[in-house]
Amino acid sequence: MKRLGILLSGRGSNFEAIARSIEEGRLNAEIAVVISNRAEAPGIEIALARGLKAVHISSKGLDREAYDAQLVKELKENHVELVCLAGYMRMLSASFVREFPMRILNIHPSLLPAFPGLDAQHQAFEYGVKISGCTVHFVDEQLDHGPIVLQAHVPVLATDDSDTLAARILKEEHRIYSEAVAIVLNGRYRVEGRRVIEEV
Ligand code: GAR
Repeated sequence: MKRLGILLSGRGSNFEAIARSIEEGRLNAEIAVVISNRAEAPGIEIALARGLKAVHISSKGLDREAYDAQLVKELKENHVELVCLAGYMRMLSASFVREFPMRILNIHPSLLPAFPGLDAQHQAFEYGVKISGCTVHFVDEQLDHGPIVLQAHVPVLATDDSDTLAARILKEEHRIYSEAVAIVLNGRYRVEGRRVIEEV
């Protein structure tokens, strides 16, 4: 069984959606470890309640390289084959990315390359786009940038505020993250330049 490592910083609903997909047999994998950079992240409680291994690694007094070296150590000790960023709100160093080439996925709440960075749903809402959505992509050394595995779109309605839009996007995040993890774990894809081509 392929071993996942989850990195998160907060609520943990994307992590929970992946855990549920495994539980319900839609994803053939196991969660080897859940790591948070924030001690108070609700995602840690969810992991513990599910009987999963959950670790808080504090960044206090550590520069990015030193912190990421600790992350790598924890992930390798747990024999993680695919790293899933699930609301992990720290930039990863280039050396971390090089430890797991094309083995790190991220979910981002916009249709990249539109609205990278923080608070993407709010950015999209304020910009006035009529369609937004979410993206699962491989992580490379640039922010919210690597090859795209899956995207889903949602309409922006006249009655929306940025919270209702974010909720509509989140529903799609929960659906496509597990699908993307399954594609990558099964090796049912090839990469040509930036294009990830699913092989069915
Ligand atoms: C999700 O909307 C995720 O796409 C976003 O943070 C939220 C985490 O929610 N990630 C980013 O913005 C990364 N740039 P969750 O903790 O409930 O999964």
